[in-house]
Amino acid sequence: MLITTKSGLTKLSRPEIALSSWVRCPNNSESRTGGLLGAQNIDNMQERAFYLANVGYTNWRRYSSVAYVSGTHGNRYVQNYANDTAKAYGAFEKAGVMPVGSTLAKDSFTVNGEGRIGIGPLFLMEKMPAGFNQDSGDWKYSMVMPTGAVMGVTNGKNSSAMNFCFECHMSVAEDQDSMMLLPEEYRSK
Ligand code: HEC
Repeated sequence: MLITTKSGLTKLSRPEIALSSWVRCPNNSESRTGGLLGAQNIDNMQERAFYLANVGYTNWRRYSSVAYVSGTHGNRYVQNYANDTAKAYGAFEKAGVMPVGSTLAKDSFTVNGEGRIGIGPLFLMEKMPAGFNQDSGDWKYSMVMPTGAVMGVTNGKNSSAMNFCFECHMSVAEDQDSMMLLPEEYRSK
């Protein structure tokens, strides 16, 4: 449902606008935000960011207040989003078991020593009907590269390449339906 085929890819007409609302620069001292949205980066973003339009998660509610570094997703800056079905995500530890169709997205970017940003992969979890995959807690994990290329999907393309996702996420399967949530200081209010 989320990842449309190659022929369905659409380019953003003004990707820089989507990106400027998307890349909320971290406001801590280690960030190199000076050039983040500067002109020298726009080309790079336009080239690589069309997956933003493809998945459509940019209209979803964002549950992180700023991008933060996630050590478990390649030390990239990330933000977390959830679709309407997954609105209970906002209750964090009290969210309970998510309904089928709940989809959680985490986008990512890197900043190199010169302050140039690189768009990173998009990480997705979609709650599937019971029996979809016991090992994954019935979540479908997928990873989409900035080019739009799908790296893997649970029970789909390169399924086993996504096992490492749930091998980690399943550690909170019982208490939090596999949702790892995000550090309290980065939660949106
Ligand atoms: C080594 C552990 C680990 C691995 C491997 C891992 N994650 Fe996560 N994931 C986390 C943690 C911890 C969080 C919350 C904090 C953060 O963002 O760093 C999280 C958060 C998420 C979220 C936001 C929803 C939530 O759980 O609160 C998504 C979506 C997600 N991961 C997808 C993936 C996908 C897809 C993969 C595999 C391609 C993956 N993760 C691999 C640990 C992991």
